[in-house]
Amino acid sequence: MTAAAPIASPNDLEAFWMPFTANRSFKRNPRMVARAEGMFYYTPDNKPVMDGTAGLWCCNAGHAREPIIQAIQAQARDLDYAPSFQYGHPKVFAAAARIAALAPGDLDHVFFAGSGSEAADSALKIALAYWNVTGKAAKTRLIGRERGYHGVGFGGISVGGMSNNRKFFGSLLSGVDHLAHTYDREKQAFSKGEPDYGAHFADDLERIVALHDASTIAAVIVEPMAGSTGALPPPKGYLQRLREICDKHGILLIFDEVITGFGRLGFAFAAERYGVIPDMITFAKGVTSGTVPMGGVIVRKHIYEAFMGGPDNVIELFHGYTYSGHPLAAAASLAALDIYREEGLFERARAMEGAFADAVMSLKGEPNVVDIRTLGLVGAIDLAPRAEGPGKRGYEVIERAFHEEGLMIRTAADTIAFSPPLIITESQVDELIGKLRRTIRAVAN
Ligand SMILES: Cc1ncc(COP(=O)(O)O)c(C=O)c1O
Repeated sequence: MTAAAPIASPNDLEAFWMPFTANRSFKRNPRMVARAEGMFYYTPDNKPVMDGTAGLWCCNAGHAREPIIQAIQAQARDLDYAPSFQYGHPKVFAAAARIAALAPGDLDHVFFAGSGSEAADSALKIALAYWNVTGKAAKTRLIGRERGYHGVGFGGISVGGMSNNRKFFGSLLSGVDHLAHTYDREKQAFSKGEPDYGAHFADDLERIVALHDASTIAAVIVEPMAGSTGALPPPKGYLQRLREICDKHGILLIFDEVITGFGRLGFAFAAERYGVIPDMITFAKGVTSGTVPMGGVIVRKHIYEAFMGGPDNVIELFHGYTYSGHPLAAAASLAALDIYREEGLFERARAMEGAFADAVMSLKGEPNVVDIRTLGLVGAIDLAPRAEGPGKRGYEVIERAFHEEGLMIRTAADTIAFSPPLIITESQVDELIGKLRRTIRAVAN
């Protein structure tokens, strides 16, 4: 007789290799949540944990919203799955129309993917294919930016600019270059909103054009506000200048709005906030308020139309995912967009921005705080690293905030980042800042 396989214990944390996590440390002292409602998560023993991050910048409508729950349940009953290759289902068309209507200008066609990483890779591929079908197939270079984050696909990490996400993974895509990032602490520290200094960082694109020639460059991709690197708001005038330089040289401009979309900066998209129309916008996260995975790319009319010239029985773009436009995601998206509209959550974020910024800035002067940045309902606090090296103090913040204060935040090395659901009240902002203040003091020594 062979020995029976051991029965996995439900308490055994070993099997799950957690993404972007210090696995051993987590498994020694887990930060576990079992349910969520409104602004709070709850641990398995029912202790509240304030959601300072809208999950991972995604649950913009807050948690356990009844209309979204009902939409997902009804959709699972009516149509659990349908392919989007050569077939369709009504809700994905409705979702595309609603998302396109939220986007500015003639950004009016939506290609769906399953995540932000897939959205970024899709946008890069659409850019390459666009130049191919318009007879400029030599335009193949992709330009990202230092400190940028565009997910973890090979396209995304190639144009991305966070070295830990790149250095372990070989030589990546060829023909990629990077703009300088836009952060200069000496000139920008403790700016509320967009810093006054730094529009000229956009001119770095001229350097890259001079080096490679515009005839070889397909697209530039940037986050309007760099998020994952620790929240870097764009300097005043920077995005406008980038648009002008792209126009001058015939280069497509892609805004990665996976974080900035759906109200985070007080508008449906950052493109609207800044009055800049990119050629493509990538989105994910808030599109379903984080409830069901969904991502996508919104493209301008001329891009979609460039593909529509061949015989009409032929597939126009050889790209797509099994879960492009999944029925549950489409249903969740329609329900989330209804909540955003009915509760005016984008406008609410805009109205709260000033008070939120003041509250966050009140942490200036706390121990080790070397910079604070705010934009929309996003805050970031740079702490000086410990003598042992970067990341140690930041990790202590995650642990202490969760276990001692009942607070979920994000860190990038020693930068604390937070981006609460857009339903947060003013007294909850004060509560959040109080929890952060105590945590920052607790990790001072
Ligand atoms: C700007 C940006 N792009 C892409 C992504 C990747 O999204 P996902 O994790 O859904 O693949 C993220 C995730 O945080 C992001 O912030």
